[in-house]
Amino acid sequence: MENASRPKYSAVPLKYKEVQGISAKTFSEHFKLYEGYVNKTNEIYEKIASGFADPSKSAGTYSEYGEAKRQLSFNLGGMWNHKLYFHDFENGAGTKPSESLSRAITNDFGSYEKWKEDFVATGMAARGWAMLCFGLDDGRLHNIVLDAQNAGFPATVVPLILMDVYEHAYVMDYGVARKPYIDSFFNAINWTYISKRYDISVEMHKLWSAQ
Ligand SMILES: [Fe+2]
Repeated sequence: MENASRPKYSAVPLKYKEVQGISAKTFSEHFKLYEGYVNKTNEIYEKIASGFADPSKSAGTYSEYGEAKRQLSFNLGGMWNHKLYFHDFENGAGTKPSESLSRAITNDFGSYEKWKEDFVATGMAARGWAMLCFGLDDGRLHNIVLDAQNAGFPATVVPLILMDVYEHAYVMDYGVARKPYIDSFFNAINWTYISKRYDISVEMHKLWSAQ
């Protein structure tokens, strides 16, 4: 059973109002969705801790406990995906991938341009998120489609870039045209943060491989 005294999550406020190509209105509405995931995550943990469902009746077909666990994963994904997404727009304009990350991109994709072409295509295909991630097992980079907040990716990866491609991320600025939004996303993201996560991932890979 969950511990009723588990600390509550709270939404991290944005440190900007807008970025070039993505409006303050889009960010303000989008932030409300993020807050919704935070609140639902807290609610589900509280509910499980309250003993509302009998864990001994949990089943893969249908059970109250199982349904709470399924929605917990979805809402944790929604909360953490958005936290990373909003974080990476801070002071991003003009930043570049570090030397170590650039080298890794070239090793795994041939060049930055080829990686970007593949990432954009991944984003055009996704029903939720496009992710550049680092495989803890192989120490390599992968562009992955997430069709929901918590679905479509292998578990043992570290996210380096999460690009929201749900329509709510761009419809107010671009209608249903996703491509110009993706261009704006690229112009605004902070490669210093992304590169730092890459360096952390490399260290994690060393520890992972040595276990
Ligand atoms: Fe979103």
